[in-house]
Amino acid sequence: MTVSASSSAPVICVVGARPNYMKVAPIIRACAAHQPPIPTLLVHTGQHYDPAMKDRLFADLDLPEPDVNLAVGSGSHAVQTAEVMKRFEPVIDEHGARAVLVVGDVNSTLACALVASKRHIPVVHVESGLRSNDRRMPEEINRILTDQLSDILYTTERSAHDNLVREGIAAERVVFVGNVMIDSLRASLPKAVPAADLLAAAGLDAGRIAGGYGVVTLHRPSNVDDADTLGPIIDALKQVSASLPLVFALHPRTRNNLERFGMLDRVEQGNFLLLPPQGYLEMLGLMSGARLVLTDSGGIQEETTALGVPCVTIRENTERPITVEQGTNTLVGIDPEAITVAAREVLGTGGKAGRIPEFWDGHAAERIAAHLHGWLAAAEAHATKA
Ligand code: UD1
Repeated sequence: MTVSASSSAPVICVVGARPNYMKVAPIIRACAAHQPPIPTLLVHTGQHYDPAMKDRLFADLDLPEPDVNLAVGSGSHAVQTAEVMKRFEPVIDEHGARAVLVVGDVNSTLACALVASKRHIPVVHVESGLRSNDRRMPEEINRILTDQLSDILYTTERSAHDNLVREGIAAERVVFVGNVMIDSLRASLPKAVPAADLLAAAGLDAGRIAGGYGVVTLHRPSNVDDADTLGPIIDALKQVSASLPLVFALHPRTRNNLERFGMLDRVEQGNFLLLPPQGYLEMLGLMSGARLVLTDSGGIQEETTALGVPCVTIRENTERPITVEQGTNTLVGIDPEAITVAAREVLGTGGKAGRIPEFWDGHAAERIAAHLHGWLAAAEAHATKA
């Protein structure tokens, strides 16, 4: 990595898919508020493109419109990653880059980190070091490789440090800053849309949730791409819905597959309130008022922990162990019986109370801006002398 002596070039911040937006929004704000300000350039790769998967979330999070949109769209992992790389490199040529900052573990994260590192531009990875230890997950490959390419690795929980050092990454490059996603959550919670309001706005009978409700999100390819896996999960959720109405916000992938497998009927027979993908403020409102959240999302495991709402995670593993150890999360796998037993347990006992993990305090992005400023200034001073 070579550090450019120019501090006038921007830090390019990359977003690609829905879970990136809530991580980058507080970082852009903290960079602007830092004294002196750290100029940023926001690049959207276009991995997610539906208004429901982008525009609404940008507005909810007060994210400025991207300075550059690469409009890559969907494709196989190889096609999508390659397209991002091809289209991202000219952005560096045009605007210059003091550093490239990537978040999370989506294909855009790895693609831009790879381009930047080969152009000798410092790579900054936010949410480093999380590991599910399951390489069948595309995100796990993205995490491992992005971390290997990164010059600064900001972590959300202390277990991440050990994972990185085990993979040969120098400990001095790893900085524990806390969780930027929780910065967004704390900033936005006062604006959260109450569940009854959003159901009414969607034309659904809000009276159905007067006695409490649960929330379901499901989108992971390993759960929804195969009818033999998705069917039993839907049946288990249907059974849970007999005790508690479930608000189910359908990801485009899941909706497409339910249609393709002829399973929408099965969903409609349960006590579900079906919604399209929701805005951020709507999701916060839904989750914060729920008695239970059932999900296969990574971020929602953390958000429920921050909200103190019990979460049943329909996955065999988690890259976010602190949500189980300290938070409200219970990992149950995909066995239908295990899902219904765990949900019954939460409804019977109120579920795990949990506590808020260290540095999930709403100030992670400020810690990043302060550290990044010092690191870049030192590296640039060194480059000027050399
Ligand atoms: C990606 C991320 C995943 C993240 C998820 C959140 C990778 C490897 N995976 O998966 O970690 O949890 O985003 O949503 O980067 N589609 C639309 N509209 C859109 C975007 C996608 O209809 O705006 C459809 C696509 O046509 C495709 C499906 O949804 O059928 C999958 O989208 P894609 O972005 O390829 O991956 P995700 O499953 O969203």
